[in-house]
Parts: sequence; structure tokens; C-alpha cells
Amino acid sequence: MSVKKIPAKRSPEEIRASRAILAVLLMGVMAAASWPQMRRPEGLPQSAHAEVDGLALTPPMGWYPWNMFGEEPQNEKLIKEIADALVASGMKDAGYAYVGPDEGVCFSRGKDGRLMTNLERYPSGLRGLGDIIHTKGLKYALYTDAGTKTCSGAMPGTKGREFEDMRSFAEWRADYIKIDWCSSEGQDIVQTYALLGKAQRAAGRPVVHSLCSWGDGYPWIWAGAIGHMWRTTADICGPGRADWARALRIAFANEKLAGFAGPGRWNDPDMMIVGMPGLSEAQNRSLFSLWCMMASPLIAGNDLRDMSRSTVGILTNLEAIAVDQDPLGAQGHVVWNDGNVSLWAGKPLFDGGQAVLVFYQGKYKADKKIYWEELGLQASDELYVRNLWTHETTGPHAGSVSVAVGPDDVAFLRLSKKSDFPIPPVLVADTYLVSLRSKGARPETLTGTVTVTNKGSSDLPPWRIDPESLPPWLKVAVAGSGKARTFVNTVSTAGLKKGAHHALVRADNIEPISGKPMSALYYDVDLEVARNVRR
Ligand code: GLA
Repeated sequence: MSVKKIPAKRSPEEIRASRAILAVLLMGVMAAASWPQMRRPEGLPQSAHAEVDGLALTPPMGWYPWNMFGEEPQNEKLIKEIADALVASGMKDAGYAYVGPDEGVCFSRGKDGRLMTNLERYPSGLRGLGDIIHTKGLKYALYTDAGTKTCSGAMPGTKGREFEDMRSFAEWRADYIKIDWCSSEGQDIVQTYALLGKAQRAAGRPVVHSLCSWGDGYPWIWAGAIGHMWRTTADICGPGRADWARALRIAFANEKLAGFAGPGRWNDPDMMIVGMPGLSEAQNRSLFSLWCMMASPLIAGNDLRDMSRSTVGILTNLEAIAVDQDPLGAQGHVVWNDGNVSLWAGKPLFDGGQAVLVFYQGKYKADKKIYWEELGLQASDELYVRNLWTHETTGPHAGSVSVAVGPDDVAFLRLSKKSDFPIPPVLVADTYLVSLRSKGARPETLTGTVTVTNKGSSDLPPWRIDPESLPPWLKVAVAGSGKARTFVNTVSTAGLKKGAHHALVRADNIEPISGKPMSALYYDVDLEVARNVRR
């Protein structure tokens, strides 16, 4: 799709649009002027950290308890019930994977300085909870703080204990760690999070590092070299009830940071409020669409055990999720906004098309026209339009398309020269944990499998196992064809000593032209050897 200059003769809508663009640009300039530390701190790697570990190359998807539950109700029972609901509702099949406790008192610091599980709340231990989550084919998310205490004051922060704490998180088998910024007075934010990143790498277990400084320190400028996502704003709500006005302020602040996002480095406008008390169906749909349009991490924050059909439908709309998870990783942004209607674009997609969104804050149902030229396209382009909520394709349309929108609702569209709208790969695993047990002193061959299914409609390039992730006792072969792939793990116990053996296997899904991973997948192999085995 090529770009053409705006013609000299403009419709009133176009004039209004260009005024609005000017207003947005001015706001951008003002915002930039108020960032005193615009320069990127020295000493950080130029490339995104995700290029090394292959994690979060598309925005992470999952669930965290804080928005709905706050601190008190969080315990093992709740997290297990939510994990089950995540699977049963179809959310796992739509790509949601990271789940675990947020602030609710999970651990304390023992006399020896090490973190200890709060066994009253988490009787299986935080490691045990990780295993339960991995066995369901989900990934394990935990929470901590970069200062001396977490935000409620109830848990110890990592300050001064960065390396030990990240080792504990690795021992508990966390795959994602949200690191808050409370009780951090006097700490240098870049140095602190960089140190935590180092500590995570030293702990030897790749994790999605989610920085949570609510925009303090302008993390969008530097955090991609350290972690994978960073909060851009204050909390979206207090526990238990959605706040629509606050959510919109956050969306309109976050969209201005579009230029900083890309594969493996995401602006995080906070966990979603879809399905929480206080929002209408249209507002739920709009919030979800805005988050998808901004390539935001999709971390649900509602009670998954008690969802209306409509909430499930919104959270699992694969056509909307496909925009969020698009491998190009572009963050869409506002093209113009007249206070009543905003047009969002700037999100090219992997199939050559693009996503477009009209968000309507007026009082009465209205028809809105989108002109190709407002999107940087040629008026003569003939485009098919896919409505991602009604799931209808119309066209080809020349020059423009009209959409009907209701109050607080959106028209969320994909535009393409082709009439098919492929869904990029969406990966779902049957488990992330292979547990094997040898029975006796004789050599044995043990096998276990992990099956990964692509729920998208586009093919995945081939998988490759990272040989460096395999200890001598483990062999892995990728079997199967088509949309499901099985990693067959074979262990020959000959020569192994009694005890527990562990490997973290990395499988990369290689993009054929660049040779870079399109997504990396890690899973654990645990082997328990009952007696010394001689050759
Ligand atoms: C901060 C974070 C929230 C949540 C709470 C927990 O406010 O921004 O997302 O984690 O702390 O206390």
C-alpha cells in the first residue's frame, strides 16, 4: 500500500482531522519537553533484551489478580481455580498463558535472608504452585518490588537482595516477574532495574521481566534493553471495580508512546478491566480493542470463575487478538481525535494489511466515514474491510468505508487488498513440565512429551531445539507435522546418580529469512532417579 500526499481540496472532515493531528503533535511536543531525561542512559545494550531470550516477541497474555481481588483474597485456592477457569473458558486456547499471584502475601524473608513461601496461603509452596500451573500448560507469573517493600508493605522488596531473590524466583520456576517500584526512595531507577535484569540472567532461568514503575523514569526510553514490558501509567483501578474514565486517560496517554514499542519491548497500559463490575458491554469491547490496537500485553484482571458469555466472547475474540499478537509488533496510535471520535491507525500487519479503529465517545449511535487518505493510503486503493467484532468482510471499497458505532463503542477493522484475513500463529502447549521417574538401579529409557498447537490460521516455520539447553542425559526430537508439534524427550538413565535432575529446554521457532526466533518456548524436564544407575 503506497502513501500519497493529501490533496489540496479537503473535506470539512479532513480539515478537522488535520487540526486534530496538529493538536496531538503539539501534545507530543509538550510531553517530550516535560521528559527531562529524554536521553537514553549510557551503558545499556542497544538491542532489545528479548532478542537474546526470545521471550515476549509478541505481547504477553495472561491473568493477574490485583485489579479484581487486591491483596487479601489471594491464595493458592484462588490461583488454582482461576487457572482452571482460564483453561475451561477457552482463554488458554486463545493464547493466555501467564498466571499467578500478584501482591497477596506469598512470601516473607527468613532469618537467613532467603525468601520463604507463606505456607498458610500457599500450602503447596510457591514451587509447588508453579508445577501445578505448568502441568496445566500455563506459565507461572510472580510479583515483587525493586525497593525495600512491596506496595502494600506486606512483602519484602528485592533491594540489596536482588541476586538471592531472583534465584528464589528461578527455583520456584517463575516464567514472568512483575517488579514494582514502591519504597524505592533514593534508588536510581535505571541502575536498579538493570541490576535486577542482571540478577535474573545470573539465576539462569529466562523470565519475562515486567517493569512496574507506572511511567516513573520514562522506562519506554531504556527498559527494552533490560526487560520486555513496562507500565506507562498509574494503576488502572483500585481493586474490585473498573474505572472507565481512568482507563481512557491511560489509553490516551499510552498511545502517545507508540514509537517506543516493538517485538519484545512493550508499553504496558496496565492489566485489563474487561469483565469487571462497572463496565458496559460496549465499554468492555472498546477497552479490549484499544489494548489490542496498542499491541499491549493482554493481562486480564477480572474474576475468570464468574464471567458472562459476552465477557468470554470479548476476551477470546481471536480476530482482535490477532491484531495484538501480530508479529510485526507495531503499536497503533491516534491519527486524529475531535473529543467525540478518535481514529486509530499506524498498525501494519504481517499479511500486508493494516488494523484501523474508530472509537466513539458521543451520546447517540452514528455513522462514521474513514477515508483511505487519512490512513496514508491512496484514495484509489480498493480494499476489503473485515469487521473484527461482527466477523463480516465487505468490499472491495474504493476510497473510504462507512461504519456504524454506538456510544462508548468501537469499529475495529482490518483492511487488506486481499479478501482473506489470516490469523498469525497462536501457540498453546498441553504442559510445560515433563516429569520422569526411574524405578531401579538398571539403565532405563524414559520418554515424555510436550505438545504445542498453533491455534492461528497461518503456518509456523520449523522448530529447532537449542542444543545448549540439553544436558548429556536428555535428547529431544521434534515430531509431528501440521499445526501440532510434539517434543519427544528421551532420557537414558545409564550412569546417572540418585537424585533430582533438571533441564530447562529451549525450542525456537525459526523465521526462515532472518534465521531469528519468531518465538522461543521453554519447558522443564524433571528426572528423579531412585537409585544410582550403573552402565
Ligand atoms: C502497584 C501496582 C499494581 C499492583 C499493586 C500491588 O500499585 O501498580 O498493579 O501490583 O502495586 O500492591
